[in-house]
Parts: sequence; structure tokens; C-alpha cells
Amino acid sequence: MTSVGVIGLGYVGLPLAVAFAESGCEVIAVDVDARKVEAIHAGESYIEDVPSELLREHAERINADTRYARLERADAVLVCVPTPLTANREPDLMPLLDSTRALAGILQAGQLVVLESTTYPGTTRERVAPLLEESGLKAGTDFHLAFSPERVDPGRTDYTLRNTPKVVGGLTDACAERARELYSIVCDRVIRVSSPEAAELTKLLENIFRSVNIALVNELAMLTDRMGIDIWEVVDAAATKPYGFMRFEPGPGMGGHCLPVDPFYLSWRAREFDMATEFIELAGKVNQQMPYHCVAKVQRALNETGMSVKGARVTVVGVSYKPGVGDVRESPALKIIALLQGLGAEVLYHDPHVPSLSELGLASTPLEDAVADADLALIVTAHPGVDNELIAQRARLVVDLRGVTRASSTANVVRL
Ligand SMILES: NC(=O)c1ccc[n+]([C@@H]2O[C@H](COP(=O)([O-])OP(=O)(O)OC[C@H]3O[C@@H](n4cnc5c(N)ncnc54)[C@H](O)[C@@H]3O)[C@@H](O)[C@H]2O)c1
Repeated sequence: MTSVGVIGLGYVGLPLAVAFAESGCEVIAVDVDARKVEAIHAGESYIEDVPSELLREHAERINADTRYARLERADAVLVCVPTPLTANREPDLMPLLDSTRALAGILQAGQLVVLESTTYPGTTRERVAPLLEESGLKAGTDFHLAFSPERVDPGRTDYTLRNTPKVVGGLTDACAERARELYSIVCDRVIRVSSPEAAELTKLLENIFRSVNIALVNELAMLTDRMGIDIWEVVDAAATKPYGFMRFEPGPGMGGHCLPVDPFYLSWRAREFDMATEFIELAGKVNQQMPYHCVAKVQRALNETGMSVKGARVTVVGVSYKPGVGDVRESPALKIIALLQGLGAEVLYHDPHVPSLSELGLASTPLEDAVADADLALIVTAHPGVDNELIAQRARLVVDLRGVTRASSTANVVRL
């Protein structure tokens, strides 16, 4: 039986661990967070894409631990730890370097190590390999080393680990081949590229592509606001072109762990090569402006009815960074709430996926109450199952940042 180690049991690592267990592998799952390890032992999933029943069904093949020692007996170890930015917006490799050092302490000849965390080109070869070699084993000779970016899209059900092609780049040919064989257990299609650097940059290209296109449509949304043109109508019409156009929606800005963070790993690295990655910086700048633009829209909508933001009751509908998930990391809703509170508004929120925002001292209010009690309902995240028609019908005033009230003919709705 193949034995697979997974380090870092978050949004990426836990689904991966369960997928290998589902395919009949023994999984050794390691996280420094003892609460996550305990939750796995208790069969309680903390990741929305992994139902607790599924975790329990495969519990006997998943050995969760806070210690690295058991990874000794794994055939392969997949590293899925966070790769955030520091306060100065530079790559923070601490979790990655800590986990690599700990792994070096128990590394065995013949093991395959694959880094899955998103990072800049060169990380696997220049940062991970030397640390692992402190074990006395040589990368590419005594153990195999590869990079394979994670493409999971939390909340998505049509594309899963199984049917989303997996890209792998190895330090050597044999490393890539080992990684290809391993991922073939859980993925229908594995694509080999020539190096870890190509695989690292593939992931960044995918994220930068999204970030730049979202920024483009957001900039147009700010322009159409001044021009009095409906951006949604324009996007809908452009999307009828069968080729050469890909639909991106305007919105309140970017959130989540990936898009606001990953592109800056590349701009940081590019500086070493005397390059300024201007598309990345510009996209970041435009997307960061969106919460301010959205709050200005709220201000104007209230103004039209003779109200100021100060003293107004505003219900924010949807606070996670995207539909169908409860993840609030870098969510533009948090910025919007802070800006509205700074202007003196009383903010309530409704989000079926986020019961409380403890750092803001807020708890989700049932939709009908939240809408009935508010001077304005602000749709920030369009969760499936939320009754937008009810919001359009019942709220005194609605600002819709997601275009979900387009079918509604009520006069109280203002759209981005
Ligand atoms: N969330 C996504 O949708 C997504 C998609 C693609 C790629 N990624 C990338 O995958 C990586 C992981 O992201 P995530 O969203 O799963 O993060 P996460 O924060 O949900 O999970 C990371 C886990 O790693 C653990 N950890 C931190 N340091 C550790 C250490 N030294 N040893 C063992 N465990 C440690 C944390 O406790 C946490 O449970 C990041 O590089 C991210 O950019 C994320």
C-alpha cells in the first residue's frame, strides 16, 4: 500500500489527504495546529469541501499527528503549508522553511517530496532542496523532489482534484516521473513540465491572469459608473462572442488566500532580475480601490434619499470572499465594513456560511430581520441560496455589487 504524508492540513492539505485515503493509500497527516489534528481524530471536518462523513469513512487510513516522526515511513510527502506575505508585502517563507527543516530531520533515502504551496520560481530548487540536503541525502539522487501546484477552487463541485489536470515539475526526470505516478492515483490527467520553476510559474500565471482580468473589468465598472452605462449589460453582451473573450465579473475587490497574495511573490522575485511586473502592481492597485468605490456608491445611494452614512443602518449580505464558502481571509467585505463603520454607520450582516465575525464583534443576523431593520442592504457576496429577490423587494434601498438583482425591476436598487 502506498503511504503518503501530507504536511499542512488546511484548505489544500485536508482534501488531498482524504483523496489519497479514498484511493486506498495510507495517509500520515501532520499539522502544527493541535486543534486540527484533534478534529481529524474526532472525525470532524473543518473544511467545507470535506464532509465529516467522508472523513470518518476513511478515518482508519488517516493518521493525524502534530509530530513529523511518523513521516519516516511515507513513500511520498506533500508539503501544503501557507505561503503568506509579511507586513511589508514580501514573501513570508517561515512556515515553508520551518516545515522543510522539520522534514529534513526525518527524511529517508528513496522518499519523494513534493511542494504544493504557491510560491515564486526557484523556491523548490534554491530554498527547499538545500534544507532537505542538511539531512545528508542528495536531492535528485538519494531522494526525489518536485513541485506541483494546487489548483483546488474551494466550494467548486464540477472541477475537483480528480478531473482537474495536475501539473508537475521535477528536479530531475526521475523526480518528475515519480511525482506523475503518485498523482495518477488521485488525478485523471497529470502534465509534466520540464522543471520545478516552470511548474511554480504556471500557478502564478493562472492567478495573475485572473487578478489582471478582474482588475480590467473593475476599472471599466468605475468608468461606466461615471458614464451612466450599465457594466453588467456590457459584460453580458461581450460574453456572447464565441471566441476571443472570456467573461470576468466586476465586484468589490479580490479576496481569499491566493489572488491578493500570490502575484506579489512574482513581483518580489522579478526585482532580482531588474524587472518591474507592472501588470501585477496595477491590477493590485485597481482591485484594492474597489472597496472604496463601493462605499462611495453606498454614500451616494443614501444621499439620494436624504440620508448620510453616519447613523445609517447598513446590512452587508455575504461577508466571505466568494460564494458558497465561509472563508473570510482578505475578504473585501471586511474592508467595506471597516470603512462604513469609520463613517459612522451601524453595520449588521447576514452570511449563511459565516456565523460570526468575532474580531469585529458581529454575528450573522437572519436575512429577513437584517433586511427589514436596515436603511440599506449591501450585497457584497452572492451566496447560492440567498433570496436576492426578497432583498430587492423588502429592503428600503439596495446596493448590489454582484449584479444578482438584474432580473428585479424595483426602483430601490443601485448596481455596481
Ligand atoms: N486555499 C486555496 O484555495 C488554495 C488554492 C491553491 C493553492 N493554495 C496554496 O496552498 C498553500 C496552503 O494554503 P491553504 O489555503 O491550505 O492554507 P491553510 O492556512 O488553510 O492551511 C495550512 C496549514 O498548514 C499548517 N502549518 C503551518 N505551518 C506548519 C508547519 N511548519 N508544519 C506543519 N503544518 C504547518 C497550518 O496550521 C494550517 O493548518 C498556500 O501556499 C496557498 O497559497 C491555496
